[in-house]
Formats: sequence, C-alpha cells, structure tokens
Amino acid sequence: MDLYEYQARDMFERHGVPVLAGKIATTPAEAKAAAEEIGEKSGGVTVVKAQVKTGGRGKAGGVKLAKSADEAEQMAEQILGMDIKGHTVNTVMIAQGAQIAEEYYFSVLLDRTNRAYLAMCSKEGGMEIEQLAVERPEALARITVDPNVGIDQAKAEEIVEAAGFDAATGEKIVPVLQRLWDVYSREDATLVEVNPLVKLESGEIVALDGKVTLDDNARFRQPEHAALVDEKAEDPLEAKAKALHLNYVKLDGNVGIIGNGAGLVMSTLDVVAYAGEEHTGGAAKPANFLDIGGGASAEVMANGLDVILGDEQVKSVFVNVFGGITACDAVANGIVGALKTLGDSATKPLVVRLDGNNVEEGRRILAEFDHPLVTVEATMDGAARKAAELAAK
Ligand SMILES: Nc1ncnc2c1ncn2[C@@H]1O[C@H](COP(=O)(O)OP(=O)(O)OP(=O)(O)O)[C@@H](O)[C@H]1O
Ligand SMILES: [Mg+2]
Repeated sequence: MDLYEYQARDMFERHGVPVLAGKIATTPAEAKAAAEEIGEKSGGVTVVKAQVKTGGRGKAGGVKLAKSADEAEQMAEQILGMDIKGHTVNTVMIAQGAQIAEEYYFSVLLDRTNRAYLAMCSKEGGMEIEQLAVERPEALARITVDPNVGIDQAKAEEIVEAAGFDAATGEKIVPVLQRLWDVYSREDATLVEVNPLVKLESGEIVALDGKVTLDDNARFRQPEHAALVDEKAEDPLEAKAKALHLNYVKLDGNVGIIGNGAGLVMSTLDVVAYAGEEHTGGAAKPANFLDIGGGASAEVMANGLDVILGDEQVKSVFVNVFGGITACDAVANGIVGALKTLGDSATKPLVVRLDGNNVEEGRRILAEFDHPLVTVEATMDGAARKAAELAAK
C-alpha cells in the first residue's frame, strides 16, 4: 500500500525524522483555517500540496506557494478536484513554507535481485530524479544495505560520502538517514523516498516530501496500518476480492485467469502472455492473477468468476485447475454452480483446463452441463491459445 504524503509525514515525525508542520484540508475554507495556523511559524507563507498517490504533482500544478491564508484558500480552490494522472485530488496538505538552501534526494527500497536493500542518494534532488538517474547516473549514489545490519551510523556515513556531500552537511544528514531507516524497518516498508530532502537557510535538514510504500504482507504485525487504508483510492476490483478473501492482483490485459495454487497461476500468466504474443500478435495479455487455493469450492469459484467478470477489460477467462486435494469433479461442480449463480451476468467465454485427481468425472460434468460459453481444452498450452484468441477477437 502506498501512503499519501501527509501520512508519510506523520510517520516520519513519529520516528524522529525532521519535518515541517503540515495539516490536511478537504475544502478551501478548511485550507484557509489551516494556513492561518501553520503560517504563523513561517511569516504567513505556506505551500498547498495535492494529496494523490502518484508522482509529478508539482509539475502538474498540484504544489503551490501561498503568501497568505487567503491565497492558500484560493490555491486550495484550484487544486481540490484537480485530476493528476487519473487521480482526483480530494485532499490538500497545507505545509509550512520552507526557506530552502539546497534540495537533495534519498531513498531506500527493496532490491529483490540482490536480496538486499538499496539506498540511493544525491546532492541534486528536486523534481527530476528519474531524469538524473538516466542522464547522469554518476550523480546518484547507489549503496547496498545489508538487511541484517540496516543503515547504522557507518552505513549512513558511507552513503553521504558516496553522494559527495561536504563533511559539515554530511554530518547533519547522517542521523536523518538513520531515522529514515527506522521508518523503513520498523514500519515494514518496501520504499521510503524523500525528494526533496532539503537544507534550510538555517542549516537544518528537513524531509519536505515523503513517499512510503508499506508491505501488505506484514499487515498482521502492523495492526495500526489498517487505519491508513483509503478505501476510495483502492482499486474497486482488488477491494472486492480482498473482502471475499481472494488472492487477486489486477493486471492490465484482457484474459482473466483463475487457477489453484500460486505456482500454477504464475505459470498460467506466463503461458497466456506467450500465447498472446505467438498467436495474436500481442493483442491478448493476462488481466489478473487469481489463486483460488486448494479447496476450490463452488462458492470460491463463483466469487472468483464474479470478480474477474466485473473487470471491463476482460474478454475471455481461462480456468486452469490441477486437481490435487481438491478433485476435478468438485471444481467442475464449482464452475457449474458459479455459472448458475451468475446467470445472465456471465457473458464472457470461459476456457477450462482440468487435470489431475478425478479429471474424467470433472470433464464429464462440464460436457453434460454443455454451457454455450464454456470450452474445455485438454492441455494448458491449448487452453492458453484458445483463451488468447477469444480475447483478441
Ligand atoms: N513546504 C515547502 N516549502 C517550500 N517549498 C516547498 C515545500 N514543499 C515543496 N516545496 C517545493 O516544491 C517542490 C515540489 O514539491 P514536492 O516534492 O512535494 O512535490 P513533487 O516532487 O512535485 O511531487 P512528487 O514527489 O509527488 O513528484 C519541491 O522540490 C520544493 O522545491
Ligand atoms: Mg517530490
């Protein structure tokens, strides 16, 4: 789950990362009241910032300086309701105006390939870090962080040195990086990014922006993270699947996929992606990951189909089940039950491949049901090709 900037700011504050005062508002009047309060510390100057879970807010006009509370109200009026890369701005943060001397960049993230964490740091922060990484990669220090050690003082010193900070500035940044590591490790984050991390005219180091991604798989030991979920901002299909306790991830293709067991579903995605390239010139791609697990009952199958058929992009569905603990006849009955439950709302072709435990009986049940939308294929490759062709039609 990605956090909003204001949530990241509050989290930073709790872990001792220096931040400026900030307060959220959902109406221009609230923004004005917040600016009156926040601006007291900065000569009336505040910054009105769109709270959306996407980057490039500044460039899109979603970050504006206000010299008075009245101006903050006007800015909020402009920014609230704005669309930034498909995200509607429902909330703004009124931040204390900073006297910025220099802007830096810092992030720490999960580096799966190297089974470690990766810290990145640059003296040239601000809005264009992606561009910097491509054009002048030498200006962006990349330091591997050992998960068993983390960013301790020695590691933080290594990072600021690699980024080329002078000794005096580096010394001030080192403790901030350690506190940001506390956020990363104690909150079970997979990304903590600060762009910009600034040096104020006063010499103080402050995190002026914050991007945090939390590891949803750690939710069981982070009960307070539940309060950070913004249901409005969640993908509606993913939210529905979560409520039904389904292991579902939305992707952007057109072949819906249901399988039992994460490994089988992963290979089904690969096989469909391949069939889409090979037989439809890339016109068919997997639309989702959905693992209905071992005990694939009719109810679970119906719930799964219901979620997938609710995806407007889906043009065909590939049900790929290997009967193990759950026999194929139970799965076939699940499909029959699901289609009966869904009735007229099932409108997309289903390609079913069953194999394993009690496969003959499973196929017999589907043959007898003889539903016009259902095609049974004997092999995984054949079924992938059929589903891809149906989606590409
Ligand atoms: N509180 C503040 N006071 C003064 N200037 C600010 C303040 N907050 C942001 N700015 C300026 O606005 C710029 C953009 O702000 P910020 O980094 O928060 O948004 P962004 O980078 O455009 O958004 P995103 O990180 O989502 O791409 C900063 O680089 C900084 O120069
Ligand atoms: Mg930023």
